[in-house]
Amino acid sequence: MATPLIAILAGDGIGPEVTREARRVLDALGLDLRFTEAPVGGAAYRVAGHPLPPDTLDLAKRADAVLFGAVGDPAFDALERDLRPEQAILGLRKELGLFANLRPARLFDGLEDASSLKPEIARRIDVMIVRELTGDIYFGDKGHRMTKTGLREGYDLMRYDEVEIARIVRVGFETALTRKRKLLSVDKANVLETSQLWRDVVNEVARDYREVTLTHMYVDNCAMQMVRDPGQFDVIVTGNLFGDILSDQASMCAGSIGMLPSAALDGEGRGLYEPIHGSAPDIAGQGKANPCAAILSAAMMLRHSLGDPQAADRIDVAVGAAILGGARTADLGGTMATEAMTDAVLAGLE
Ligand code: IPM
Ligand code: MG
Repeated sequence: MATPLIAILAGDGIGPEVTREARRVLDALGLDLRFTEAPVGGAAYRVAGHPLPPDTLDLAKRADAVLFGAVGDPAFDALERDLRPEQAILGLRKELGLFANLRPARLFDGLEDASSLKPEIARRIDVMIVRELTGDIYFGDKGHRMTKTGLREGYDLMRYDEVEIARIVRVGFETALTRKRKLLSVDKANVLETSQLWRDVVNEVARDYREVTLTHMYVDNCAMQMVRDPGQFDVIVTGNLFGDILSDQASMCAGSIGMLPSAALDGEGRGLYEPIHGSAPDIAGQGKANPCAAILSAAMMLRHSLGDPQAADRIDVAVGAAILGGARTADLGGTMATEAMTDAVLAGLE
């Protein structure tokens, strides 16, 4: 295999700070990788007048994988929607066909007290959320209009076709096969037509996966169960909007949003890897962001795009060892700076 090309799109806020640390860990592994950086989000708007400039999109398409930081900058909240930083990540997902979002949430040993849940409940959390990423209410017809009576109205269409549903559901089943063989599909089939079709398609695909135990749950109940007893979940498959919300919720159950990585995959090995946290403008530039989510995202990249699960395991183990050894950034109740946290991880690399 030719030397893989990694596109580094660090973005806004703490994005550059944490991506730099992920890069340090990758460098320390001594792998044969090429890196090219490009601006994205508000940072790209500043230099190129667009959150996802053509050169950045082109690099992302050429690369074997994208290591992404975060986008979002309050300075640009007043811009029209197409130019806001968040459009960069939505555009990348759509343009690269990254329909499958893997968001693992597990509690690292030693972080019981950082969770919002009671330690004995938090300890049991180890869930993989498989979120659909290029459809749903995010990408349906949307806009503003006037009603017949002259009122301003906003609308966003929720929609999925059966092919979109089946392909993400298959990712859910395949993921369950690599874990405890339990798949929970989350929808709102008691109210939404989109969800009724979702549930029908899930049951159809299930015929190909008899060895996986399938259950269904309404999203409101799932949100409740997530704080009551998250240990009951193995793999959750759900649509774009519900997955967005449930994955943030799962992250706090697992200790801190600063610990959770994610992968956005096209089903053919290409992927974009990013912490699930955002640009955190309130702490940007202060050197106190937790780099672990970005570092663990790099591990997911090695696993899912670069065919190097051993290197991925080494990173996962090193992060676990750093946490167990007491390394804590502010989000985990400690005082460690971003770089020091990475140093603790590097110290644990075998
Ligand atoms: C996420 C984020 C994004 C989303 C935003 C920044 C558009 O919340 O990745 O979860 O809603 O998908
Ligand atoms: Mg989100």
